[in-house]
Parts: sequence; C-alpha cells; structure tokens
Amino acid sequence: MTTDPFAQFKAVQREAWAIFAPTAAFTTPCAAALVDFAGINRGESVLDVGCGTGVVAITAACAGAHVKGLDLSPALLEFARHNASLLDGEIEFIEGDAEALPYPDAAFDVVLSQFGHMFAPRPDVTIAEMLRVLKPGGRIAFSTWPPELIVGRVFALVGRYLPPPPGAAPPPQWGSPDIIRERLGDAVIDIEFQRDEMRFPTLSPRHYVATMEQTIGPVAKVVATLSDDPARLVQFRRELQELATQSFAHNIICQPFLMTRAVKR
Ligand SMILES: C[S@@+](CC[C@H](N)C(=O)[O-])C[C@H]1O[C@@H](n2cnc3c(N)ncnc32)[C@H](O)[C@@H]1O
Repeated sequence: MTTDPFAQFKAVQREAWAIFAPTAAFTTPCAAALVDFAGINRGESVLDVGCGTGVVAITAACAGAHVKGLDLSPALLEFARHNASLLDGEIEFIEGDAEALPYPDAAFDVVLSQFGHMFAPRPDVTIAEMLRVLKPGGRIAFSTWPPELIVGRVFALVGRYLPPPPGAAPPPQWGSPDIIRERLGDAVIDIEFQRDEMRFPTLSPRHYVATMEQTIGPVAKVVATLSDDPARLVQFRRELQELATQSFAHNIICQPFLMTRAVKR
C-alpha cells in the first residue's frame, strides 16, 4: 500500500498527460535552448525529469551526453522510446515520479526538467530529490512558466476551475525567481536565470483553446469535469480565450518562459 498522500492526484495526472505528444512540436526548440543553457558536455551523465516524449533527453544525447529520462506517463514514454530509436545511442526511459526518483545519490552530472518537475505537487520533496541524485558540483537546470505570463495564467485558471488537492503547490510558482531562490536555498550556488519564448502557431485564439483542450492534460481535465455544467464550461473557455487573445499576433501565441541554472554545493 502506498504512503504517498498524493497517489490519487498523480494517478489522475499520469492519465491526463497522455495526450500531450502533439505539443512536443513546440517544446522541441525550447529543449535546444535548455540544453544550451545547461551547457551539456560530451560524456556527462544527464537526467531529464518529466521527460514526456523525450525532447530534452534526446537533445542532450545528441550533444554527446549519457542520458536517462523519467516521466509519470507510460503513453508519452512510448513516444520517447520511439524518438530515441531513430538515433544511435541508448537512452533509458522509465516510468516514475519526480518526488521519488529511482536513482542512487549523486548519480548525475546534470539534472534537467523542461516544464516537467513543476507539475509535481510538493516542491520541497521534488527539489530535494533532484538535488539528491545530482553530484556535488553538478548542474541543475529547468524551464518553467512564470505566473504572471500567459501559460502561468492558464494554469492558474485551470486551478480555479479544478482546485488541486490541499497541500499541492500551484505549478506556476516555479516560474518566480524569488520562489526558486528560496526553494533551492543553500543547497546550490551560482543561480542564473534567462528568459526565452515558445512561439505557438495557431490560426486564432479560438484555435489555441481547442488545441489546449486536445493536448494539455490539466485543461482537458477541466473540460471533462465541466461537461455536466455547460454554463461554467462556456465561462472557462471564454476566460481561456481572453488570455490567448492578449498574446496573439501574426498567427502566433507568444509564450515566454524562464530558464534557471544552478550548481550543487
Ligand atoms: C508539459 S509536459 C512536458 C514534457 C516534456 N518535458 C517537454 O518539454 O516536452 C509535463 C510532463 O510532466 C510529467 N509529469 C507531471 N507530473 C510528474 C511527476 N510527478 N513526476 C514525473 N513526471 C511528471 C507529465 O507526464 C508530462 O510528461
């Protein structure tokens, strides 16, 4: 029997994220930005936490690293294994939880996460795990969505319509430099931040809403939950579309994100 108080929440997340694969087209360029920012060197051992279809793991492997990837979603891991099979070299992808990494202490030179670890419910548990498996002197680097910008606001909206269980931290808190500094605490030195942006092609804000509903697990979950409350569903879609409209120009939704890098003491 599990002692994890968030086991049920994670079981729901595990299924919800299964539809994410088409969105990897947009996270692929961001993966190159994170791998560059982390400064991956040939021969380094790298872990990608919340790897999804493997975009960061495979980019790091292409830079010459020895890579492992972990994700909650078995469906996405199938895509990751297929993507990796198109290249030479071995990447071990396994199903697992960012809050309970199945690796020994100090196993990796670099621990990465692109829009992944931010969805684990307990930041203190997650960051302790990511730092535990990192060697002293190793680098942790991750990309996250700032709470004040479009994607952070979308997840805040999702949280209003479908509140997470008590004790689960809102994912976009991971996009705030002050909160990141506090969470990393004295365990690291040399914290650096850098902004970049994901350019999300779409014909209109309405099309963006439809794509989010079809590919972003937590958004799809809100829509499914509101299926017996049409008025509230209309309101949710309206609010989501209003957010999208604010960031839409030239058939692109511009989604700025934050990259963080630090060195473990
Ligand atoms: C927005 S997707 C990002 C996927 C991939 N890193 C990318 O950039 O394309 C979020 C990923 O985090 C994973 N995830 C959510 N909670 C997790 C947890 N507690 N442990 C491991 N992975 C988790 C999801 O299954 C999903 O693959």
